[in-house]
Formats: sequence, C-alpha cells, structure tokens
Amino acid sequence: MLKIGFLASGRGSNFQAIVDTINEGAIKAEPALLVADKADAYAIQRAQKLGIEHMYLDPGAYKSKDEYYEAITSEMKARGVGLVVLAGFMRIVRKPLLEAFPMKVMNIHPALLPSFAGLHGHGDALAYGVKVSGCTVHFVDEGMDTGPVIIQAAAPVYDDDTEETLSERILKLEHRIFPEAVRLFADGRLEVHGRRVRVKGNRSPEDYIINPTVQQ
Ligand code: GAR
Repeated sequence: MLKIGFLASGRGSNFQAIVDTINEGAIKAEPALLVADKADAYAIQRAQKLGIEHMYLDPGAYKSKDEYYEAITSEMKARGVGLVVLAGFMRIVRKPLLEAFPMKVMNIHPALLPSFAGLHGHGDALAYGVKVSGCTVHFVDEGMDTGPVIIQAAAPVYDDDTEETLSERILKLEHRIFPEAVRLFADGRLEVHGRRVRVKGNRSPEDYIINPTVQQ
C-alpha cells in the first residue's frame, strides 16, 4: 500500500481532509509521517489526534537548505514513503527531496496557476481584479508553483470579497481536489507527459474542473 509523507507549516486542514478521506476508505494509502517546519504548526496537533507519526524539523538547525531537505528525505525514505504531499508547506522544496521523489511530490496552491503563484495567491488575485480564481494541485518541480498541473477547481470572486472570504470559498474546493488528486495517484492513474498530466481510465468532463456554479 502507498505510504504518504506530509509536509506542513500551519493549520493543516488539507492534511486533515486527505487523512479523513483515507480513513473513509476512499484512498488506498496509509499516512506514514507528518513533518512540520514550525514547532507550533496546528498540523502537529492534528497528527497527534489522528495517531500519525509526526515531527518538527527546524530549518534553522541545518547548515544549508539542501541539508534540511536531505534530512526530510531520509525520514521519508526510512518509512517507505512513496508520495510526499505538501499540505500548506510554505517553502520552496529543493533538489535533494525532488530527486528522491521525482513527480512524487504534490502541492496545493490557492489560485489557478500559472496565475498568482507564490505566497499571496488570494491577495494577488483580489488586487489584480480577476472574476474567477480557484485552486490547483500540481506536481512539484524546482520552481515556485511551476510543476505539471493535476487538477484545478474554479471559484467566483465577488465584488465584496476580502482575502478571508475568498480563501474560505477556495479552501472548500481545496479539500475536494487534493484528496481526489491523491486518490488518482494512489490508484496509479496519473501519467506525466512533459507538462501535461493525463488521467488514465474514464473521467467525465465535469471531473476536470469543478464548476463554481454548483459549488456554492
Ligand atoms: C491552503 O490554502 C493552501 O492552498 C495554501 O496554504 C493554505 C494551507 O492551509 N498553500 C500555499 O499558499 C502554498 N504556496 P492548511 O494548512 O489548512 O492546509
């Protein structure tokens, strides 16, 4: 069975959504480890409650960024992890982890990539004035939110939206598409061809983009 390692920096609601879906029996995988880069990340408390092994690895305790990712890689490898999930991990992942897990590191970003990459997806979308935003699950490469896209979901942006209201609306979609992307990976249905990720087997057109009009 696929073992999943999680990296998180904060609240961990995406981590929770994926583990809940696993526990419902909808994803054939086992959560093996959660690593947090912040000692007070709420994701750690969630892991504790869920009975999932967890640890805080302090980035400041390593001589270089690469050494930090080497440490994470060896913790993941020691537990036989086959997929690394970035669940609100606010750092750019570096080569040691990516080379050990090629096209096996997934991230969620709260905007429709390639728009509004980086740390301020919601605020940047609002400031630009777009009428539709959303979220993207993608495989991770060395760039900032630049890897091949797996699933996206769209959400409307309303005139009176604030970062808070927009992020709340998008988060609901995140909690649907991230478990779905992990499920497809666990079932061996994701094929990467250059930048394009294809899903093997039948999917209806509605499966590709979650329609905002049926979401609210
Ligand atoms: C999520 O909205 C996720 O899309 C975003 O951080 C939040 C984490 O929430 N990630 C990024 O912005 C990555 N650049 P969570 O800790 O409750 O899952």
